[in-house]
Amino acid sequence: MVDQRKKITLLVFFFFSLLIESTFEQKISSLDEKSALLLVRSSLGIRSRDWPVKGNPCLNWNGIKCDANGTVTEINISGFRRTRTGNQNPQFSVDSLVNLTRLASFNASRFSLPGPIPAFFGLSLLTLEVLDLSSCSITGTIPENLNRLSRLRVLDLSKNSISGEIPPSLTSLQNLSILDLSSNSVRGLIPASIGALSKLQRLNLSRSSLSFSIPPSLGDLSALVDLDLSFNDLSGSVPSELKELRNLKAFVIAGNRLSGSLPLDLFSFLSKLQVVDFGDSGLIGALPSRLWSLPELKILDLSGNHFSNLLNITVSFDSTVSMLNISGNMFYGNLTLLLRRFQVIDLSGNYFEGKVPDFVPINASLSNNCLQGPKNQRNLSDCALFYQSKGLTFDNFGPPEEKKSPKSSWLNNRKIVILAAVGGSILVMLFLILLPITVSFCVRRRNQSSTSNHPRGNGVGPLPLDETLPSREGVSINFASLGSSFSYQQLLNATKEFSDSNLIKKGQSGDLFKGVLETGVQIVVKRISLESTKNNEAYLTELDFFSRFAHPRIVPFIGKCLESTTHKFLVYKYMPNGDLPSSLFYKSNSLIDDGLKSLDWITRLKIALGVAEGLSYLHHDCSPSIVHRDVQASSILLDDKFEVRLGSFSKACHQENNGRPRKIARMLRLSQSSQESVPGSPATATCAYDVYCFGKILVELITGKLGISSCEETQFKKILSEIMPYISSQEKEAVMNILDQSLMVDEDLLEEVWAMAIVARSCLNPKPTRRPLMRHIVQALENPLRVVREDSGESERFRTTGSSRGSSSSGRVFGSWRQSTSDPVAAGTSSLLSQAEGLATGSSARGSSRGASSRRSMKDV
Ligand SMILES: *[C@@H]1O[C@H](CO)[C@@H](O)[C@H](O)[C@H]1NC(C)=O
Ligand SMILES: *[C@@H]1O[C@H](CO)[C@@H](O)[C@H](O)[C@H]1NC(C)=O
Ligand SMILES: *[C@@H]1O[C@H](CO)[C@@H](O)[C@H](O)[C@H]1NC(C)=O
Ligand SMILES: *[C@@H]1O[C@H](CO)[C@@H](O)[C@H](O)[C@H]1NC(C)=O
Ligand SMILES: *[C@@H]1O[C@H](CO)[C@@H](O)[C@H](O)[C@H]1NC(C)=O
Ligand SMILES: *[C@@H]1O[C@H](CO)[C@@H](O)[C@H](O)[C@H]1NC(C)=O
Ligand SMILES: *[C@@H]1O[C@H](CO)[C@@H](O)[C@H](O)[C@H]1NC(C)=O
Ligand SMILES: *[C@@H]1O[C@H](CO)[C@@H](O)[C@H](O)[C@H]1NC(C)=O
Ligand SMILES: *[C@@H]1O[C@H](CO)[C@@H](O)[C@H](O)[C@H]1NC(C)=O
Ligand SMILES: *[C@@H]1O[C@H](CO)[C@@H](O)[C@H](O)[C@H]1NC(C)=O
Ligand SMILES: *[C@@H]1O[C@H](CO)[C@@H](O)[C@H](O)[C@H]1NC(C)=O
Repeated sequence: MVDQRKKITLLVFFFFSLLIESTFEQKISSLDEKSALLLVRSSLGIRSRDWPVKGNPCLNWNGIKCDANGTVTEINISGFRRTRTGNQNPQFSVDSLVNLTRLASFNASRFSLPGPIPAFFGLSLLTLEVLDLSSCSITGTIPENLNRLSRLRVLDLSKNSISGEIPPSLTSLQNLSILDLSSNSVRGLIPASIGALSKLQRLNLSRSSLSFSIPPSLGDLSALVDLDLSFNDLSGSVPSELKELRNLKAFVIAGNRLSGSLPLDLFSFLSKLQVVDFGDSGLIGALPSRLWSLPELKILDLSGNHFSNLLNITVSFDSTVSMLNISGNMFYGNLTLLLRRFQVIDLSGNYFEGKVPDFVPINASLSNNCLQGPKNQRNLSDCALFYQSKGLTFDNFGPPEEKKSPKSSWLNNRKIVILAAVGGSILVMLFLILLPITVSFCVRRRNQSSTSNHPRGNGVGPLPLDETLPSREGVSINFASLGSSFSYQQLLNATKEFSDSNLIKKGQSGDLFKGVLETGVQIVVKRISLESTKNNEAYLTELDFFSRFAHPRIVPFIGKCLESTTHKFLVYKYMPNGDLPSSLFYKSNSLIDDGLKSLDWITRLKIALGVAEGLSYLHHDCSPSIVHRDVQASSILLDDKFEVRLGSFSKACHQENNGRPRKIARMLRLSQSSQESVPGSPATATCAYDVYCFGKILVELITGKLGISSCEETQFKKILSEIMPYISSQEKEAVMNILDQSLMVDEDLLEEVWAMAIVARSCLNPKPTRRPLMRHIVQALENPLRVVREDSGESERFRTTGSSRGSSSSGRVFGSWRQSTSDPVAAGTSSLLSQAEGLATGSSARGSSRGASSRRSMKDV
């Protein structure tokens, strides 16, 4: 009994295994299909290792896919090699494909199929959705009847020797999303009706021999993502209709014979562009400035055209752009592009003038311009003639040898040299007196700024005396106890050996790398190269700072590594939301909207308040007061909840002299032009300077214009003059004109925007003494509506609170704003900063006379 049952089970098992085996054997259902494949196999000479004769095509042939019924749906012989016999007489002979009734994809790229595309493709392979015949050595023309493959989504015939014209009938392939005819000898014109291919995402016609112009109807291809028409013989210009290609990521028309200029609104809606390659395409005229604010741009090649713009836009590409080549054009003006993280920069062969700013990387190509400093520049007559032709005067290359700098201009003024010498000795005396009282990092800082402006050093003015001061002796902090001490190896491991992929950004005082400690803690490491003396002092300043202060609004300091003599490393906690510029606009993952989102108003207000709280701690809770001196968007770090943690303390110092500039300092400043005196000068060592910079942050938050808080002072003054008219105490709607367009604000929020704008305005008061205190700003931002409601409604009350008796904080902020209305426009355009330093200059006089007429009554309140 038992034995029999065993036998039966065994038997059943045996049959089952037979059954299973036979179903697999039969996996390719139709014998026709198998013999068709065998015929293809022999006509193409496919090797046994790819398609073994005895094997089951659906199971063990490479590149064959079948559906559940065992019918072949996909053939992929891409990159296969032929057998020796197959190689002897290679042909495009795949006739038996007609017996594959459900074939949806045929990919033969990089498989040699010399000969024309067989006519039966368009007659019989009606189930095809993908036809990839790129790099197949195909000849002949594109068969007209391919248009009958109505399911076709991908048609890639690139890199062959196809000739003839593009058949207009192709445009009936309604489901086409990729059409690649690049690198062929296709000639004639691009059919205008191609614009009807509404699902097209990639159109690549580059390196064909097409002539004629770009048909405007391409603008109908709103789904187009890649457009590559490079190296054709296109003439004419770029039709303005192309601005409708809203999904375009790559826009490539390099190497054509276009003429004319680009439509000024070309980039208005092309906000997804990542690659713009217009190199060598004969374009002239002005480059639409919108190009510089494309948020996702990575590669920009405009080389070898005849673009001629005054490139005076301040652009801050953060961490996205990797290549910029605008060589061989006629761009001119001062270099204001913030070229932060380009890997390749080529500005050669233009007419840029002036000094080369710090943010231009050393390996940028700058030759053949009119710049001061770099080698291989154009000659004087060339530059002068060019600028003359633009109605401008070329300011020469600056004085020979010495670069222009605040100190070298002292040389030109004998009176001031004497003043400076006297001032210098007084300064030294002051130093000696103040040294025991003030902590010395401001002293060091001034020292650095002088050495950085003058790498070779010079013997003019008070500076050498500064240098003789033993700057570090005043610092007696034992940094060993500060945070953890990491070994260099630990940091190497944490940051993948400081790999490029871990680089967050290149900062002024060092490069920032992301990393993970062995414990799993995410960190940011600042690598400071001591090659520049500036950095040498800056990292000590920072260590000094962190050894004294910590606050919830200050980035948490984790440790340092000081073992190397060439590099020092500071380690901070990682902030998930990076800095303000990188989070103000961010990519959303949502597919519904167009992918780019900006921080909402509530978050912006929260950030403003956070920064104010941090600065208020420094200014009011530290004693003596700390001045941050580097308040700009990139110093504002954001944790996972968008809470502000301030960073960038390498310039921080104690406020000098209780905020009042010393007389001697004021005297020295006389010798410097207003704009040059700002960045490293003692004038910045006041809390009022931080407040001023904070005002810029508020402007950046309101307008959403990245880079405002970091741009040059002259540039900022221009911006200021444009926006100030819209910050009015009378009319809240005016502020809508400058508000970031990506913000949606209702009536209530608009009042908050208005309030913030008013606070910003008071912070930007040209007179430092009139700027509000940080702790009052905190109170105003905590309750923004009070600022405006007290203003518009209760002017009576305001007048009292605005006075010295006032106790209402917002009133005080507002009061100082009110005082600042003495024509901010003029203040903005003229030398705002010279006013800020209390210098009576001609321009401010002009300012007040302009403002006098209309604003007098208001001012006299
Ligand atoms: C398999 O064949 C059956 C009957 O012919 C058909 O209904 C079914 O759609 C086929 N399945 C596939 C995936 O083609
Ligand atoms: C096609 O086949 C090649 C080689 O087998 C393989 O590398 C490739 O991924 C396949 N491509 C597709 C789209 O299946
Ligand atoms: C397709 O299959 C039929 C039936 O087996 C056969 O007669 C015909 O020759 C095949 N066609 C090609 C081109 O192989
Ligand atoms: C064809 O195969 C190649 C390489 O195997 C692949 O790169 C290509 O994307 C395939 N073509 C299509 C249209 O999938
Ligand atoms: C085009 O694609 C859609 C969606 O993928 C499909 O429903 C439709 O049948 C296709 N049209 C043709 C002619 O194959
Ligand atoms: C277009 O084709 C050319 C050559 O075939 C290729 O180099 C280029 O990358 C393609 N462009 C796009 C946007 O796909
Ligand atoms: C920029 O473009 C020009 C002209 O096409 C080329 O000669 C040069 O090598 C490019 N520069 C870089 C850095 O690639
Ligand atoms: C740049 O220059 C143009 C032409 O001179 C001028 O109209 C424009 O206002 C300037 N823009 C800035 C930001 O300075
Ligand atoms: C460049 O800057 C210099 C000095 O700041 C100025 O005199 C000159 O006008 C500027 N050039 C242009 C074209 O704006
Ligand atoms: C230029 O320097 C940057 C870093 O400073 C680097 O990432 C980039 O690769 C360099 N580019 C070239 C062309 O060497
Ligand atoms: C300056 O350069 C231009 C253009 O390169 C050249 O034609 C001219 O002869 C040069 N002039 C001098 C004085 O070298």
